[in-house]
Amino acid sequence: MKILLVMITLLFLSINLIAKDKLPMQVFQEYCWGCHHQTAQAFGPSFKEIANKRKKDEIIAQITDPKDFYKMLGYKRNSMPAFNDLNASQLSAIVEYILSFKDKK
Ligand code: HEC
Repeated sequence: MKILLVMITLLFLSINLIAKDKLPMQVFQEYCWGCHHQTAQAFGPSFKEIANKRKKDEIIAQITDPKDFYKMLGYKRNSMPAFNDLNASQLSAIVEYILSFKDKK
């Protein structure tokens, strides 16, 4: 009986881990992929370019409030919609995902 419980717990933990790993890609594909690609310029700049020139706070500000923030980043107009309905884990997943493309020095 005890061993069964241990097995169920382990199974549950590994499912959770897998789901967590998928979150950045889910957010990327659902919300960003139409305009941003990982390393190539698309309608918007690539994640690699963003990661190399921005800090975490700037990336969060642009995602949640581009209307008030685009000028700060040096853009003349705002072509990106705000993503206010991302929850905290989706937001941090996508920010970490963007920053993972930063070049290693
Ligand atoms: C409709 C197209 C579109 C979508 C969808 C979109 N973006 Fe953007 N994004 C842009 C454009 C275009 C820019 C360049 C600034 C501008 O023109 O408004 C930009 C700029 C940015 C910047 C700042 C770039 C810099 O210079 O540092 C970040 C960060 C960013 N986007 C993240 C995201 C993330 C994360 C998502 C998904 C949650 C997303 N964007 C979805 C079009 C889009």
